[in-house]
Amino acid sequence: MRKAKHKQEQHIHAEGHSHQPLIFPDNFLWGTSTSAHQVEGGNKKNDWWAWEQKVGHIKTGETSGRATDHYHRFSDDFKLAKTLNQNAHRLSIEWSRIEPNEGEWDWDEVEHYREVLRCLKEDGIEVMVTLHHFTNPQWLAEKGGWLNRDTPQQFARYAEFIAEHLGEYVDLWCTINEPVIYGVMSYATGEWPPQEKNNWKMLKVIRAMAKAHRLAYGEIKAEMHKQRRKAHVGIAKNMIDISSYNHRVIDYIYVRLSEYFWNELFYRWTKRSHDFLGVNYYFHQRVRRKRGGGFIFVDVRKEEGRESSDLGWEVFAPGLFEILMNLKKYKLPIYITENGIATVNDDKRSRFIVAHTKEIYHAIQAGAKVKGYFHWSLLDNFEWDKGFEPRFGLVAINYGTLKRTIRDSAYVYARIAKENAISHDLLRFIGHGAPKEHQEQ
Ligand code: FCB
Repeated sequence: MRKAKHKQEQHIHAEGHSHQPLIFPDNFLWGTSTSAHQVEGGNKKNDWWAWEQKVGHIKTGETSGRATDHYHRFSDDFKLAKTLNQNAHRLSIEWSRIEPNEGEWDWDEVEHYREVLRCLKEDGIEVMVTLHHFTNPQWLAEKGGWLNRDTPQQFARYAEFIAEHLGEYVDLWCTINEPVIYGVMSYATGEWPPQEKNNWKMLKVIRAMAKAHRLAYGEIKAEMHKQRRKAHVGIAKNMIDISSYNHRVIDYIYVRLSEYFWNELFYRWTKRSHDFLGVNYYFHQRVRRKRGGGFIFVDVRKEEGRESSDLGWEVFAPGLFEILMNLKKYKLPIYITENGIATVNDDKRSRFIVAHTKEIYHAIQAGAKVKGYFHWSLLDNFEWDKGFEPRFGLVAINYGTLKRTIRDSAYVYARIAKENAISHDLLRFIGHGAPKEHQEQ
C-alpha cells in the first residue's frame, strides 16, 4: 500500500513536468566520497594492512599497498573534483595515523590532514569527515578491537582530539561508516578481519559502535561549542531496500525483521544523537524465510536477469526513493553519503547516476529533506577484500602508472552538479546510456 502510493506520486511528478529539467534545491551538495584506506596508500598501522599481508585474504591476491597514492596526490585529485563542478567532498581521517600507538598523537599526521582539509576549503568545497571507516589502529585490534569495553571511550577521545585540532575545517561530521555492515562482515559472516563468525559478538560490536557514536557525538558538539562553531554530526548508514521474494504472508514478517535489523536497530540505539541521516545506498534485496533458520533467518534472493554491477549487486534506483520516504519519519536532514556502481561499462555508470539522482529529486518533491549527494567514488580504489578489480571511480586509475583519467560518466555528473538539475535530455537517455554530446565539455 505504502509503496503503491509513493509510486503514484512519483508518476504524477514525472508526467507533470515532462520537458522541464528536474531542479534541485538551492545549495544542494554535489560531491564524491572516499575513505582513507581505500585511496591513500601506506596505511601500515591499521588492522586491515596487517590482515592483507596474508596470501588468500584479498581475493585477487593484492594488498592495498600504495593504493591510488592519494596521500601524496590529494591536491591534484581535489583539483579534478573542482573542475568537475563538485562542491562537496567526503573523506575519512585514518585513526591509526593520528594515534599510531595508544595515547600517542602523531603531530606530523595532524599537519598532513590540516593541509588536506585546508586544500578543500580553499577550493570552496564543503567537507564531510568520517572518523571511522572500517579500519582500526593495530594496537586497538590487539586489545580486542570493538569487543574491548574501553573502545567506545577510546574512540570518543580520538573524536574529541580531531574536533579540537581540525574541527575548524569540518562542515559535516560522520562518526562511523556503516556500523552494521562492519559488525556483520567482521563478526558474523567472517569475511573481514578479525574474521569471527559469532552472531552474539556481532551484536556486541554493533552495540559498542552505537555507544561510541553517542559519546563521540557529545564530545564533538561540546568541543565545537567551545570554539563557537556549529557542528552537524551523524553517521553513514548502509540502508537496504527490502521486499518480499514471493509475496507470501510469512515473507513479509521476514521483510520486517530484516528491515529492523539492517535499517532501524542502530538508530534505536542512538536516539537523539543525530543532526542528519547519512545514507549509503547500494542494495536492494528480495528476501524469504530460510528453512532451518541461520543468520537472521532470511534467505536473500536475486532474481535472475536483472541489471547488476560487476560485483553482482542489483541496480535498482527506485529503492533509494523508498528508503528516503521511510526516513522522513525522523524529521532530519538527509545526505546520500555513498551511492555508486562497480562497472567497467561507463555508460552504465552514467545511467546509474541519472537514474539515482532522479529518484532523489522525486523524494525531495515528496517531502524528504535531502541536502546533498556524495557519489562513490571520486577515484577507482581498493575495494576491501575484493582488491582493485571493482571500478567505482568517476576517475579511472591506471595502477601501473597511477595516471588519472576522467571517465565520461564524470562529465554527466559534472553537468548535473553545474546546472543543479537533471536536464530533460539526460533523463531521456536513462535507458540507452548518456548522449555522446554531453560526455565531453
Ligand atoms: C561501502 C563502503 C565503501 C565502499 C563501498 C563500495 O559499503 O562504505 O567503503 O567499499 O561500499
